[in-house]
Amino acid sequence: MSVLVSGGAGYIGSHACVELLQAGYEIIAADNFYNASPEALRRVEQITGKKVPFVKADMTDKAQVEAIFEAHPDIDCVIQFAAYKAVGESVQKPVEYYYNNLNCTLVILDVMRRHGCYNFIFSSSATVYGDPASVPITEEFPVGATTNPYGTTKAFTERILTDLCKAEPRMNVALLRYFNPIGAHPSGLIGEDPNGIPNNLVPYIAKVAVGKLKEVHVFGNDYPTPDGTGVRDYIHVVDLAKGHVAALKKLETKPGLFICNLGTGHGYSVLDVIHAFEKACGKKLPYVVDPRRPGDIAECWADPSKAKRELGWQAEYGIEEMCRDSWNWQSKNPDGYNS
Ligand code: UFG
Repeated sequence: MSVLVSGGAGYIGSHACVELLQAGYEIIAADNFYNASPEALRRVEQITGKKVPFVKADMTDKAQVEAIFEAHPDIDCVIQFAAYKAVGESVQKPVEYYYNNLNCTLVILDVMRRHGCYNFIFSSSATVYGDPASVPITEEFPVGATTNPYGTTKAFTERILTDLCKAEPRMNVALLRYFNPIGAHPSGLIGEDPNGIPNNLVPYIAKVAVGKLKEVHVFGNDYPTPDGTGVRDYIHVVDLAKGHVAALKKLETKPGLFICNLGTGHGYSVLDVIHAFEKACGKKLPYVVDPRRPGDIAECWADPSKAKRELGWQAEYGIEEMCRDSWNWQSKNPDGYNS
């Protein structure tokens, strides 16, 4: 099976490329490097010892996507990672977010059908559940009550793919709802390399640990959680990447529409994560408590039992390994791929 990995140079995409190659799949990576570096793909080659066929392409450009399928008529599945992903920025630039995130998927789907390709894996997010009525969250929870345009692009794309599966019986689609991916490949060669000041907790902590930022800002300690700080289901990016290999195997059984959470089922607070990172890097990390960040929810973790039952997949790494590997990447690459 030959797999087009769109957004293949990004954080999750590059880790997925490693796992796909190691599982014996043939891949073609595509990326426009808007928020990714070509160096990530060179490092994927270094880790796997395999060549990564690669195309620089903007997935919203139909002619460019057509050209990929024409050059690689054997593509029989697309894993669609290409998207803008900053929650705060999406509030400021809703048109850019809807335009880019919806069109990446729509253009690929349009080109796929002309080339007889009917397998698609979509990078969705637990953000589609909005503020859940309870935890853990199962796949049956209502979706769509999102709190920002980024999250809404995920919910809309899920809806488009659901409608497509109803209309086109040959289509097989996996909607993978990620919880909070963190960590890095244990080699320290690939990892998360955000532009500018990180928005997400663990990249921010990592920059404090490496001395690039002064202190961690804890967004609120008055939530109804055990220590008052927000609780999330952090998942090691390598486990998440392996979830895509499992989903690909699932698509080979022609399931039609398949929806699945990818999380660990464990919740950790902001302070838990800071303390786990302190252990990993061997130093005390200064933090201050700030007001809550608008749009944040108190707690969110997965019921991962469907993934175990139907994909035979479960997360293997715990918070210690996640922080260890995040620190290993950050300390070896203090300026990310520009180090
Ligand atoms: N937090 C801080 N300080 C920071 C950054 C975050 O205290 O500097 C807190 C947040 O308030 C939250 C937790 O750390 O309680 C995690 O925040 P992140 O920004 O790392 O992640 P989110 O849970 O807000 O969002 C992430 C992804 C989204 C995805 C969502 C799904 O960024 O893309 O998980 O649950 F949709």
